[in-house]
Amino acid sequence: MRKTLIVFGTRKGTTTETVHIIAEVLRDKYSQTLEIADSKQIKNYKKRLNEFDNIIIGSSIVSGWWKSSVLSFAKRNVFEGKKVAVFVTAGGTLNKVAKYGISKEDAIKEAITKYIEKYSKKFRFNPILKGAFGGKVIKRGTIKYNSWNREDIYNWANNLGDVINQNQ
Ligand SMILES: Cc1cc2nc3c(=O)[nH]c(=O)nc-3n(C[C@H](O)[C@H](O)[C@H](O)COP(=O)(O)O)c2cc1C
Repeated sequence: MRKTLIVFGTRKGTTTETVHIIAEVLRDKYSQTLEIADSKQIKNYKKRLNEFDNIIIGSSIVSGWWKSSVLSFAKRNVFEGKKVAVFVTAGGTLNKVAKYGISKEDAIKEAITKYIEKYSKKFRFNPILKGAFGGKVIKRGTIKYNSWNREDIYNWANNLGDVINQNQ
């Protein structure tokens, strides 16, 4: 069975948009049966994890922090025998490409180091793939910045699909 659970946390909805792209690629191109859970519902999943072959965990980053419900899901569960991938929505870090002209590769590396590897020590799994995507800040209807990029997410989801389907 190829069943994938995506657990994600968002504040303003950017991460939800990211999840929809990942889900579409995995479903349409990699024949995964998808279930998607907002972090507000993940308590219901603890008993059901056995049903899934792959788990994708994604959180929006605000002031350096994951959504606490997603972080505790990642820290408290043992995902033995499952392929687990992790991504963050790090709009501010990815915006350094436009703001300071650093390379996208460096911005992604910085976000993965700061927001995934720092936390990884507390995880009881090794992610098969890590990702960091852009985001948006909109204040009183005005876009302060928008570093969200559909293609980056699409490409990452394809990489993930390839890794998931390896040795299956
Ligand atoms: C108050 C605030 C703090 C933020 N802090 C960070 C940060 O520490 N690092 C970062 O890369 N992005 C930061 N961002 C940008 C968010 O990652 C971006 O707004 C993203 O789209 C939020 O995703 P969400 O809509 O799924 O919650 C911050 C945004 C806000 C509004």
